[in-house]
Amino acid sequence: EPTERPKERAFLVGVELRSAPSLLSIEDSLEELALLAETAGLIVVGEATQRMDHPHHGTYVGSGKVEEIKALVEDCLAEVIIFDNELSPRHLRELEKEFGIGVRVIDRTALILDIFALHANTSEGALQVELAQYEYRLPRLTRAWTHLARQAGGGGGRSGSVGGVGLRGPGETQLEVDRREISRRITNLKKELEKIRAHRMRYRANRRRSQIPVIALVGYTNAGKSTLLNFLSNAGVYVADQLFATLDPTTRRVELPGGQVVLFTDTVGFIQKLPTQLVAAFRATLEEIAEADLVIHLVDITHPNALAQWHAVQQTLEDIGANQIPSITVLNKLDRLPDPEAAVHVLESFPNAIAISALKGKGIEDLLMLIQKRLFEELIPISVRLPYKEGQLISLLHEVGQVTRIEHGRGHVLIEGSIPGRFITRYKPFEGLEELQEDEEQ
Ligand code: GTP
Repeated sequence: EPTERPKERAFLVGVELRSAPSLLSIEDSLEELALLAETAGLIVVGEATQRMDHPHHGTYVGSGKVEEIKALVEDCLAEVIIFDNELSPRHLRELEKEFGIGVRVIDRTALILDIFALHANTSEGALQVELAQYEYRLPRLTRAWTHLARQAGGGGGRSGSVGGVGLRGPGETQLEVDRREISRRITNLKKELEKIRAHRMRYRANRRRSQIPVIALVGYTNAGKSTLLNFLSNAGVYVADQLFATLDPTTRRVELPGGQVVLFTDTVGFIQKLPTQLVAAFRATLEEIAEADLVIHLVDITHPNALAQWHAVQQTLEDIGANQIPSITVLNKLDRLPDPEAAVHVLESFPNAIAISALKGKGIEDLLMLIQKRLFEELIPISVRLPYKEGQLISLLHEVGQVTRIEHGRGHVLIEGSIPGRFITRYKPFEGLEELQEDEEQ
């Protein structure tokens, strides 16, 4: 019988940079880091913080702080130090030198990548995480890599590998070999992902033809996306009170009160300081959000940083070009509020919001009515420049929308009007009032 490995002891370091203000306070960010560490199976035994203008060019934190951390780490027998900020390859090298071979140094990014690696279920998810991990590692090939290699490969003892290469680090030649090998794997992974993507595009084209509106469920990690999807569809999606329990998109058919059918897709959880390698690797998945007809942004209303979390998700939506899509903010976990009346007050801070309890099924009917209204009843203004060959889109606009102004130009028609929300995504590639005005000047 295999015995469970004792949990590794982690020491957290948070730095507040006055030059780069973050969404969360240093304390809140560290609390989130602790949760991430626990999700990765570590036990947090201590922490240190520093406020500074810029990171120290060598060791990220100042030399006095390094000494202080050394003493604390020794006291609480920590085996791994986790920095809340992303460490450059140079910082990582210098810190490893400072802390010696008994202690590993990693950063928030590496930790999140580890958690993603543990939670990827589909082959695409696993490939995306692997790609992100290699891209993160490539410039950082040092001792710390062995930690990640162990996690990604699953199993294997920690002490041997870390101690073995730790003393001097792998030789330069070995590093070169490793670098070439990793570059080769990155190329292969990208090719494989490209194939999967092409397959998915064909699938998506089919879905588009079927004209069923797609609703993307987004939210900060642990907001309750899987729970909501479960309630809506009894889908049996994995629900767990840990970060990033669901990594792979799940799609479910749901019927609205008016009888219309829509598709809900659950997406990867968001978090502040989401590693850029991950956003890049998951871009294809995230971009599907940008093609949805409606975005449901779920927020854990009971979380003390609900508003900051909302902003973090909005920021990512903006980054992937999904901020133009009609959206509804849904405040979740209403049942956990001691005073549900207070929700009314909280609602005021969020645009277009309603409150629900996904767990108890409270407010779901109202949510579905609102979705129905946004997708099928409300008209949303648009200005588009449609080539004549898009005849279908032109007649659709006349059929289901309202046209307030129309001008026929050479090769295209300019239309101002409005259309039900469920069609808006189709017109996105042709949007633009500037072009309309430009055209008038000619
Ligand atoms: P990620 O996979 O991390 O992105 O999380 P998620 O957004 O899918 O959250 P999930 O549905 O897994 O829920 C996270 C935790 O919150 C679970 O323990 C749920 O039981 C709990 N939860 C979700 N909705 C509610 C709710 O309405 N009320 C209460 N009390 N708990 C809820």
